[in-house]
Amino acid sequence: MQDIVSKGISHGVYIVTVRTKERINGMTAAWVSQVSFQPLLLMLSIAPARFTHNLIKESGYFAVNTLDKDIQNLAAAFGFKSGRKVDKFQNVPYFDAPNGSPIIESALAFLECKVVNMFTAGDHTLFVGEVVAAKLLKEDKVPLIFHWDDYF
Ligand SMILES: Cc1cc2nc3c(=O)[nH]c(=O)nc-3n(C[C@H](O)[C@H](O)[C@H](O)COP(=O)(O)O)c2cc1C
Repeated sequence: MQDIVSKGISHGVYIVTVRTKERINGMTAAWVSQVSFQPLLLMLSIAPARFTHNLIKESGYFAVNTLDKDIQNLAAAFGFKSGRKVDKFQNVPYFDAPNGSPIIESALAFLECKVVNMFTAGDHTLFVGEVVAAKLLKEDKVPLIFHWDDYF
């Protein structure tokens, strides 16, 4: 049934970023959603094996960076290697959000969140975060959409 779920449900494509005292890191994430208006809550679904999973638990904050076609290459750059082994920000310009999350300068938008809840969901963890800072950085672009096995 996984193939039918993948064909029947589409997602955006984002880079989730995080800062701890020692490190910054980011990973590509498709399982990201708004889940409340008031308060404004976003949810991430992240596998416990990801380095980013540990870092978000430690930090208590994360940021969602929205990708568009011009920076499509970042999805692969942040989605197939772990920050345990490489510095994915080495050639990626960024600035700090108000609570320190690194924001990719070329992102379409960023949403920095404070973690307010965590739940186990099967083989993933749901991190629920309240949006505490957000900015649209490009007015003239549309977010990438992940369909089945490709994003465009
Ligand atoms: C298009 C795409 C979407 C992804 N979405 C997710 C996701 O929603 N949740 C997740 O746990 N991993 C997802 N991944 C896998 C992580 O991005 C990948 O394992 C990454 O290397 C983890 O990096 P880290 O170990 O530095 O945290 C996705 C990968 C790609 C290419």
